Parts: sequence; C-alpha cells; structure tokens
Amino acid sequence: MDVPCVAVAREAGEAARGALAEADALDDDHEIVVEDGTIYIPVTDADAAADTVAALDGDTEMTTHDLPVRRGVRTPADILGFEPSLERIGDIVVIDEDDPDRAAAIAEAVIDADLPARSVLNRASKIKGELRVREWEVLAVDDAAAADSDHSPTETVHREYGHEFCLDLAAVYFSPRLATERHRVVEQIEADEQVLDMFAGVGPFAIPAASRGADVVAVDLNETAIDYCRENARRNGVADAVTAIAGDVRDVADDYRGWADRLVMNLPHSANEFLETAVALAGEECVIHYYDIQHEDDPFGPGIAAIREAAEPEYEVAVETKHVVRSYAPHELNICLDVRLTTTHG
Ligand SMILES: C[S@@+](CC[C@H](N)C(=O)[O-])C[C@H]1O[C@@H](n2cnc3c(N)ncnc32)[C@H](O)[C@@H]1O
Repeated sequence: MDVPCVAVAREAGEAARGALAEADALDDDHEIVVEDGTIYIPVTDADAAADTVAALDGDTEMTTHDLPVRRGVRTPADILGFEPSLERIGDIVVIDEDDPDRAAAIAEAVIDADLPARSVLNRASKIKGELRVREWEVLAVDDAAAADSDHSPTETVHREYGHEFCLDLAAVYFSPRLATERHRVVEQIEADEQVLDMFAGVGPFAIPAASRGADVVAVDLNETAIDYCRENARRNGVADAVTAIAGDVRDVADDYRGWADRLVMNLPHSANEFLETAVALAGEECVIHYYDIQHEDDPFGPGIAAIREAAEPEYEVAVETKHVVRSYAPHELNICLDVRLTTTHG
C-alpha cells in the first residue's frame, strides 16, 4: 500500500534517514526500499519530515510509495489470512469489495491492524455523472483516530509529491493512482507560464503548477471541488497564483480567450467535446495535455485526429508525447497526448 515517504538519491539516503530518525519522523512500520538509485524512506509525519529534509543538501522529494510492512507489525493480511486489495487516500483506506461479509471482515482487520487508518470505505457505485463522483459505504471508523480529527469519515488530507490536498471523496473526484502522471506533466511547467486546468477538481495539477511559478486558472463544474481547490491553494502557499473558478469551462472561455500557454484536459471520457473551447483558450503557442480512454488497438489515433480537426489550419499541431497512463479496463487504455499548437497567423 502507498505510504508517505521521502524519496532521496541513494548516496544521500543515510544522511536523510539519520535526520528523520532524529526528528522522530521515521515510520517504523514500513521497510525502506531502494529502486533505480532512489531510496524511499517511510515517514509518520510528512510535515515534520518535509521540514527536516529541506535542511539537507541534495534533492529530496516528499511522495508516496508502495512500501512493504516490516516484520513484527500486524497487517490486515496477518489477521485475515489473505492479502486484501487496499488503497490509501490520506488516512482513509479504500476497498472495492462486492461481498458484504468479506467487506466487513476486511474493514475490521484494517482497523485492528497496526497500520494507521481513520476510516475504511467501500466503493458503492461507479464514478458517475458530469462531476465524476462515486458513492461510498463507510464500513468502519477508528474511534480513537476519529476523536483526534476534524474530518468526516469521507474527508481527508492526502499528500502527493510534497503537496497537501484536502478532499471529500463523497463530494469530489480524486484518484491517487494518477500521482505519477500528474508529476510527469507538472515537471514540464516553467515559471511564469499561464496554465489553465479545464477540469481541475481539488487542484492536484493546478496547485503544483503554481508552486513551479506558473500563473494558474483552475476551472471545475463542481463547486465543492473548487472550494477545496481554493483551500488547497492556501494550504500549499500558492493562493495568490491560483484563480479557481466554479462553472462550465465553456462559459469561462470568453474571459480567457487566447490566454493559455498550457492546457490540462483531464476529462478522459469526453475531452473531445471540449476541443473547440481548448483552441479558443490557447495562446499563440500552447501545449495541451489531452487525456483519453481508447481501445488498445489504436489508443492515440482518435485523439490526434480530433485535435487536428479542432485546431488546424489556425494552428500547426505537433504531437510531442504519446503516453500510456494506465490500463483502464480490459483492452482499454487511459492515455495522454502532449500536443503543441503553434499559430499559423505569423
Ligand atoms: C476526471 S476529474 C479530474 C479532476 C482533476 N483534474 C484530478 O486529476 O483529480 C474531471 C473533472 O471535470 C469536471 N467537469 C466535468 N465537466 C466539466 C465542465 N463542463 N467544465 C468544467 N469542469 C467539468 C468534474 O467536475 C471533475 O471534477
């Protein structure tokens, strides 16, 4: 299961581990893991850990990573006798279990195990509607953890690549599985860019973009998501750089016509319906991160054709990256196209 940790180059690992131990921020329940020259050190208190490693030489990053539980720590699997499939979002553990008896047993084991969890939720519907929100069944709540928390069982604060996102899973879309993909996009952003996130949710693209020095407009139809996006911009110290707008992005386009150096279009089932708006928002040169879900036989073709149809001949269209984000369903892929539009009107 993904847990908060510090990622640091192997050479700097021992210094970071020592500093974290001294700050009492090491998570002793999980193993330290080395992968591709990077050491992932599990931490209990991400804020204290971030402050501690910020004082060290060399690149360190707050992130989450799938780290094994240490021997001697009682896991849900130890209690159940099988390995349940769990996902962690902040201090909420999420499962996807159709059998109510099995769901109840897993939830009880999660609460009784030595791993921190404030509540356990089961998926109670597919992601649905324009707002892309799911229904949840609250299976269990840890009374002691709940007494220390201001949040409802479905609300939490999730940490991703050094940023904090407060969100209510029952009211907004959020998937921690997209963390690596969001990071891939955010790393391309330069200071002073004008970035417009057309489907921003609680801000997991918009806020890190602002942290890189971009001027960001974040739009979402879901007013609750935009309330969280504003709160998250404040939490992460970038409120001045993020303009969060609740509404249909098609209605916002007139105010930002020709404004964007970069557009994020993370509404994969219907992004093609918003390409006319995207072209209206694009500046003379603009990179679009276009998410799509397509059959594995031709995952990129339909998106490229739709972008060309919307943007040419006003823009020259260059496909810079064809990226598979993840498998979405059997034979279906969630993909991202990074596409550069350059005006043809000199
Ligand atoms: C797949 S979610 C992505 C959220 C966010 N980018 C993330 O990574 O967590 C798509 C978002 O688009 C929003 N949305 C749907 N239709 C919209 C529209 N016409 N204008 C603006 N936002 C819209 C939904 O409310 C939802 O929050």
